[in-house]
Amino acid sequence: MHNTSITTISVHLDNRSYPIDVGTGLINNLPTYLNDHKVGKKVFLITDQTIAPLYGHHLESILSAQSYVVTLIIIPSGEAQKSFKNAGDLLDRILELRPERNDSVVALGGGVIGDLAGFIASLCLRGINLFQLPTSLLGQVDACIGGKTAVNHSTGKNLIGCFYQPKLTLIDLNCLNTLPIHELKCGMAEIVKYGVIKNTSLFNYIEQNIDKISEFDPKKYPVIWRHLIVSSAMDKAEVVSNDEREAGLRETLNFGHTIGHAIESAYTYGTFSHGEAVALGMIASCKISVTLNIMTPQVSDRIKTLLTKLGFGTTIPALPLDQFLTPMSSDKKVKNGKIRFILASEIGKTETRNDVPEELVKSAIQSLFK
Ligand code: GLY
Repeated sequence: MHNTSITTISVHLDNRSYPIDVGTGLINNLPTYLNDHKVGKKVFLITDQTIAPLYGHHLESILSAQSYVVTLIIIPSGEAQKSFKNAGDLLDRILELRPERNDSVVALGGGVIGDLAGFIASLCLRGINLFQLPTSLLGQVDACIGGKTAVNHSTGKNLIGCFYQPKLTLIDLNCLNTLPIHELKCGMAEIVKYGVIKNTSLFNYIEQNIDKISEFDPKKYPVIWRHLIVSSAMDKAEVVSNDEREAGLRETLNFGHTIGHAIESAYTYGTFSHGEAVALGMIASCKISVTLNIMTPQVSDRIKTLLTKLGFGTTIPALPLDQFLTPMSSDKKVKNGKIRFILASEIGKTETRNDVPEELVKSAIQSLFK
């Protein structure tokens, strides 16, 4: 039996629809979910060195106890693992074990594991079952929902990959309890993003509960954190259901990311976490919106204040501006040579623009300089 108090959110995609189940202790229910899906006996459980001791070995043993033949694949933690070479090596390992089409890849970890394991599942025998079990907040509210899979290329992040939907995404709220604060913060930037781009009531909720949320203590405030995750996962599921392949609506999820990615790559990777860079990117995009008169300074201040209360920085050390603009122009968000910016106009509303003058982008970035 599954645990009580499970919230099910649906991603609707014709014959590839799937549920996202949210609840506490759901990792323990994976064998039941696999039984329900009538999958083959071989399970390739892909995780990293951080997650393996927390949940990986445990999951291996409960799956084995249900007579699944589990291969636990533990890779080092970190973005560097998302390489084509690494994906090939892991596929060698899996194919040597003679999988069948109905066997499964289980992705247990954050966004890196979700992207890499999803990529491998999509390629193996032209696609075997994929089950996403995100353990990071970022994975739970964003990266592991919606079927984006990817590895990196020397010319940019996530440039090789495909859309490949899982059979199921399981969000186990217990995983929050083992996350360091910087990981919670990273996911929180994306949660604020949903509030700004489409969910006014979520934004208001974060404002109303800011003192509790900024303690970053999900164990103390489980109801609040559950609400944040369920609302965000619903927002993501709705966007993906309406625009799986990013023809329009899904682009709005890139709010704050165009400048955010440029900030991530302008400094040595790791100087700013993804969440910190996205928060800075959102602040810079608000500056652009205000200058273009599509947002009032009051709305911009509201967003900046919320991010500040969550502990995000609002400044970056100065660097030559080209170091931000070059990565921006090789981003996947470029169409017909023009950078497409998602700009917020008010809380809950966006506009997509491809006519933002380069000078304005530069001055928005410069406004972040210390
Ligand atoms: N992380 C953005 C997307 O899935 O489209």
